[in-house]
Amino acid sequence: MKRIGILTAGGDTPALNATILGAVHRANQLRLEVYGIIKGFSGLLNPEVPHVHLNPLFTCIPEIDPTHGGSVLGASRDYVDGDDKETIAQVADRLARLKIDGLICVGGDGTLNGMQPLCDYLPTVLAPKTIDNDLGLNYPDEPTEWVRETTDNPKKFRYHRKLGREFELEEMINFATPGYATAVYVSAQSIQRIRTTAESHRRIAIIEVMGRDCGMIALGTAYGQPDMILITEHPVDPDALVERVVSILDVQKHAVICVSEGIRDTQGRILGAVTASKDPAGNLQYTGAAEALKKILVDRLGDAFFTHKRRNESADAAIFVRKIGHTQRGGRPILFDRFYASQLGGKAVDLLAQGYQNCVATLQYRDGGFILDSVDGNMLRDRWGEVHYRPLSPTFYDPKRFMPSVKGVRYLETIFTNALGPDDVESIRSLFNTGNLTHPYLSVNVDINKRIKRLQEDA
Ligand code: F6P
Repeated sequence: MKRIGILTAGGDTPALNATILGAVHRANQLRLEVYGIIKGFSGLLNPEVPHVHLNPLFTCIPEIDPTHGGSVLGASRDYVDGDDKETIAQVADRLARLKIDGLICVGGDGTLNGMQPLCDYLPTVLAPKTIDNDLGLNYPDEPTEWVRETTDNPKKFRYHRKLGREFELEEMINFATPGYATAVYVSAQSIQRIRTTAESHRRIAIIEVMGRDCGMIALGTAYGQPDMILITEHPVDPDALVERVVSILDVQKHAVICVSEGIRDTQGRILGAVTASKDPAGNLQYTGAAEALKKILVDRLGDAFFTHKRRNESADAAIFVRKIGHTQRGGRPILFDRFYASQLGGKAVDLLAQGYQNCVATLQYRDGGFILDSVDGNMLRDRWGEVHYRPLSPTFYDPKRFMPSVKGVRYLETIFTNALGPDDVESIRSLFNTGNLTHPYLSVNVDINKRIKRLQEDA
């Protein structure tokens, strides 16, 4: 193996550059050339395959900064359709013409699915990333619990899961994924900030976090001490919700509720999904969880509840919603993400160099610490070959308190106790550098563009 390719697919995370840097450093040691493919799978679908040589003379190009969020290579949600054999053959041919002997895809469950058709053509390894923390398994036999149902479209299926089993934290495949810790850090901080304004104005704040179908980010926001956390995996029961909100209001006159964007009602319908659309990878984009929850509270409590005791002028005025949005996916990654992202990038290179195929680099929890390991990509697929997201285990959540369970707390503290480094704290001071006022933002895209090469169709 002389030359490997690397691409960053799906939604970005703050730790992607750290993964790329870890991969390039390890490749330098092994004397492997690394070509970065621009904009994820979209770069491979482009006949010119725009790419950048990331380590000329086995030295890393200076643009790769592990403290900078996003990806120097750019990201996209395009993917290679497994049924489109012609396109797959074209992609394989392009990679062969670039003399790429192995490919690292930095991504999540969607990327692993997208990588499968390429596995028959060249060695491939997934280096994990996702803020949703839904790549992997709660326990090894989890893929067997998925059930598939047919739909009106013969090519589309609906999947759901049987109830999961108890498990030890050591059983988890891929304990935590780079990107998650930073997303939780930003979200928990936002909750702390919104708290004090809700407190003084006697309001109910509903704060929506990302995570798609997985409540991991919402669970982690417990560090910001919201009064209630609603996760995707536990359906919203309006009676229990209202009862808890009223009891909180009675005591402290305000409430802070964190909701995961994918929350569902007791019939399993996504709350606020009325306007949901799909991204190119076919994922539903969730839009209105917080608003839907507000509507339940406004309808159930009514104006009188707020006006009677002079709590506020109306239910609508008393309840406000905020989305943390893409702030939780951008900016400087915190130490946990940077460190393990670069380790996993290096591990992915080792796996390719050692001849592994369709493999996933993983972070495992063992004897009170973390180790790097790997699993066969096939292990994450169900009996029909589909890779599913990892749901937040119900054992991590206490639905009576709307808070992490004892086990959930143990899971979180394992990740977060030393997740922030002194440099993360110090970096906050750089916001008020006077230079920020006088120097425009210099996008890394400008310098990367100068390095992009293209595969000539006739080469
Ligand atoms: O998968 C990562 C994620 O941030 C989800 O949590 C969220 O639902 C989605 O991507 C948002 O996607 P987009 O960046 O396309 O709006």
